[in-house]
Amino acid sequence: APANGLLTGKHLVITAGPTREPIDPVRYLSNHSSGKMGYALATQAKRLGAQVTLVSGPTQLAPPAGVKVINVESAQEMLAAIESVIATADVFIGCAAVADYRLAEVAGQKIKKQQDSMQLQLVRNPDILATVASRVNPPLCVGFAAETQNVAGYAEDKLKRKRLALIAANDVSDTSIGFNSDDNAMTLYWHDADGQLCQRELARAGKAQIAEAILRQVHSFLD
Ligand code: C5P
Repeated sequence: APANGLLTGKHLVITAGPTREPIDPVRYLSNHSSGKMGYALATQAKRLGAQVTLVSGPTQLAPPAGVKVINVESAQEMLAAIESVIATADVFIGCAAVADYRLAEVAGQKIKKQQDSMQLQLVRNPDILATVASRVNPPLCVGFAAETQNVAGYAEDKLKRKRLALIAANDVSDTSIGFNSDDNAMTLYWHDADGQLCQRELARAGKAQIAEAILRQVHSFLD
């Protein structure tokens, strides 16, 4: 379908996929994020006329046509890539499943097996979304939340704590959708001008359709 120009003139920076936190030269910590939702957002944003920068962790997906893709592995690399492009962004969408922790120290050589048990020491990664949202002139920031309980409560908390304009939340206790699925169902949360929490249900649909609905909601907050 042709672009209708809803986002023409806007620069969207989108993160997607998992991060990979190295343990040693041959091992890492990661998660099951497929990157499909972030790539769908990038594809639809481009179709709606936006300039799109996609900062992607390792995925099996083809780069969307006409989108600038920056490939990264770790959370720290993801943050550095974002900081190199964020100054011109109108919108930042944090769709990546960023690892909450990385190794305190990455071993320079392959770790040999030793005793029957071993411990890895982890330290917190930077919160990329919160870092972008607390800039002096931040772009409009959108976050994702995958929760198994109290979805609305955690979404509202995240809106405030991370200074977001919009949260797209899904209930990951429904294992038929979400991670690695082609479909998704989400609830969007935001605050209106009076500070009231608003919500909108996006019924189960393909990730392209969900992405377009999220971008239309984002557009309503611009200008
Ligand atoms: O706090 P929580 O991890 O549930 O928040 C999820 C949202 O925050 C997602 O939009 C995710 O991309 C973003 N996030 C981030 N950097 C982190 C952790 C989460 O940008 N280190």
